[in-house]
Amino acid sequence: MNMDRNLALELARVTEAAALDAGRWVGKGDKISADAAATEAMRRALSTMDISGTVVIGEGEMDEAPMLYIGETVGSGGDLKVDIAVDPLEGTNICSKGTDGAIATIAMAPRGGFLHAPDMYMNKLVTGPAGHGAVDIEAPAGENVRRLAEAKGCQPQDLTVVLLDRERHEKAIEGIRAAGARCQLITDGDVAPAIAASVLDSGVDMMMGIGGAPEGVLTAAAVKCMGGFMQGQLVFMNAEERRRAKGMGIEDFDHIYSAEQLAQGDVFFAATGVTNGNLVRGVRYFPNGAKTHTVVMRSRSRTVRFIESLHYFDHKPGFEPTSAT
Ligand code: FBP
Repeated sequence: MNMDRNLALELARVTEAAALDAGRWVGKGDKISADAAATEAMRRALSTMDISGTVVIGEGEMDEAPMLYIGETVGSGGDLKVDIAVDPLEGTNICSKGTDGAIATIAMAPRGGFLHAPDMYMNKLVTGPAGHGAVDIEAPAGENVRRLAEAKGCQPQDLTVVLLDRERHEKAIEGIRAAGARCQLITDGDVAPAIAASVLDSGVDMMMGIGGAPEGVLTAAAVKCMGGFMQGQLVFMNAEERRRAKGMGIEDFDHIYSAEQLAQGDVFFAATGVTNGNLVRGVRYFPNGAKTHTVVMRSRSRTVRFIESLHYFDHKPGFEPTSAT
């Protein structure tokens, strides 16, 4: 399916709606309600889009998620048949604690374009365009720091590498520090910093380590739009995960996926900040309105737009944020 319409702006409306509603739950200590508010708002906004969309990366299987579950059809039912990957609130813990890095995010591809990644772990390595032909997910972390510094024409100490602050990353963190680079250890939410690694001057040069596989597919869509570098390899914890992956069409369990393999064809990506981060700023409310910060992109044109929007709630019927009290 040839996507002649540029759907980037329409996708921005979808992530803005999710962020506006999730934003009311920032710092409230209730990640379930925050996620539900984002999901409901995203689904409502998606229903106004003239597409026949199928959720392939979503809130869970049909029996475990009431909305935006895998297989759910979304959109008003136009001729354009697309697959949708969503994470209405990426970083639910971050949002509930009111710390940095929560986003509302969506990606869209022609039907069949996304890897149907099960809800399991993926080892990821993401850099900007300089990483192509330089870094490798199978190389030790410190070696990748040295290779990226050389490719960028800088010193290792100029580089910042983001990793989830987990025990499983101890060896990588040691290697990065020994090579001279700086580590930014995050509590949750690896999508935004991974994408930031492809954005010039974001303050992030590389993201590595094990995080969610569905998040890896969303990351890949954005990285592809920016010509960045990404490799992802599924991490199986048990036989059940292998069975589930097989059921979702995955044959080669050891395959190292590129961004292009995770997100094929002409893909679109959008993310709006819920809380502040390296990529986008969080929602800021003012009397009867709010300001949002969104990044939208398309792989075909490689245009990356940062959009600051002012929303006046008395002029947005159906989009008034729900109250978090
Ligand atoms: P939420 O699903 O609560 O939003 O968490 C998302 C996330 O932090 C991802 O960004 C990351 O890839 C993954 O969870 C890490 O998983 P774990 O907490 O099991 O290490």
